[in-house]
Amino acid sequence: MNNDVMKVLLSGKEIEKRVGEIAAQITRDYAGESVLMVGILRGAVVFFSELVKRVDLDLRFDFMVVSSYGSGTDSSGEIRIVKDLSQPIEGMNVIIVEDIIDTGYTLKNLKKLLSTRNPKSLKICSLLDKPSRRKVELEGDYIGFKVPNEFVVGYGLDYNEKYRNLPDICVLKPEIYS
Ligand code: IMP
Ligand code: MG
Repeated sequence: MNNDVMKVLLSGKEIEKRVGEIAAQITRDYAGESVLMVGILRGAVVFFSELVKRVDLDLRFDFMVVSSYGSGTDSSGEIRIVKDLSQPIEGMNVIIVEDIIDTGYTLKNLKKLLSTRNPKSLKICSLLDKPSRRKVELEGDYIGFKVPNEFVVGYGLDYNEKYRNLPDICVLKPEIYS
């Protein structure tokens, strides 16, 4: 285990089991349809790649880079599109794949933006959800796990761009965050 880790909240094994369940659900819900999965870089990358392998549909990928946080742990309430989609989404079934819903600002704004482009449907799939931190009304359609109000890293999630490669979802030692 990485020396900076205080505890493991969700093991990679547990996560992968849940990812399989979500993939099966998506496969059922969109049976006979095509789907565009939009991964939000960089945090969703590990979840995204585990998820898409298990979804059995006519599926395409795209990615966006959205910035809402600076380098710390607090949200600014605004988002900036750093990299937009590389194709139009009109008439498509779009699923946004995110690492975590925290305040909800990022996905609320993103959903608003993408819905102006007239997709056939638009849903949110997030590995983690921290409902106690919500500042705007926003619900995910597919959620892996609800987590308590603790800053977590690993499985794609970072603290100051580090720890994304940890195979589990972890909480770091308090001295690392200060
Ligand atoms: P929101 O706009 O507050 O919902 O923030 C969503 C973004 O904040 C996520 O995509 C993450 O990049 C980041 N974030 C929120 N909570 C955590 C956490 O506990 N660990 C790592 N990143 C987080
Ligand atoms: Mg982040």
